[in-house]
Amino acid sequence: LKFSIRSDLAGIDWGAVKTDLAMDDFDNGRTPQELSRSFENSHAVALAWSGDRVIGTGRLLADGVCNAYLVDVWTKGEHRRNGIASAMVRRLLDSVPGHHVILQTDHHESFYRSLGFTPRSGAMEVVVGTWLDPDRI
Ligand SMILES: CC(C)(COP(=O)(O)OP(=O)(O)OC[C@H]1O[C@@H](n2cnc3c(N)ncnc32)[C@H](O)[C@@H]1OP(=O)(O)O)[C@@H](O)C(=O)NCCC(=O)NCCS
Repeated sequence: LKFSIRSDLAGIDWGAVKTDLAMDDFDNGRTPQELSRSFENSHAVALAWSGDRVIGTGRLLADGVCNAYLVDVWTKGEHRRNGIASAMVRRLLDSVPGHHVILQTDHHESFYRSLGFTPRSGAMEVVVGTWLDPDRI
């Protein structure tokens, strides 16, 4: 499979991305506009392209000093196990030397271990109000 990893958001059809995320059961409710905004507002993004289609995503929230959070790591179903997500995550990690990077995963520990992550306990979380406030649109 020929693919390239890009760190810019030019030319993305976010409606198509949302459709593909839904087909993989990985749509967490953002509108195409909200997907776009969440990527724009990130410290770094990595998009995998095959031809004119986005086939993988990842983004990193970071303060540029010490703390970062990896989210939205996804490779389109039929293109998995080609090294796409590994390439995206490596690209994102390269943008934050010296940072402590955390992420949340239920099923992909071995994948993240292969990229240098180790499990840790002690995570806590809260959703402020309702996830994606239904009155937002
Ligand atoms: C997790 C996910 C992002 C991995 O994407 P991917 O592009 O398949 O990732 P990679 O190809 O880089 O690596 C995946 C596995 O394929 C293996 N692999 C990589 N290149 C390979 C190749 N050429 N041939 C065979 N296997 C290969 C890797 O070793 C890795 O194995 P591991 O999971 O046992 O460590 C993908 O499965 C996905 O999108 N899942 C649904 C969304 C999700 O759960 N995201 C993670 C949220 S935390």
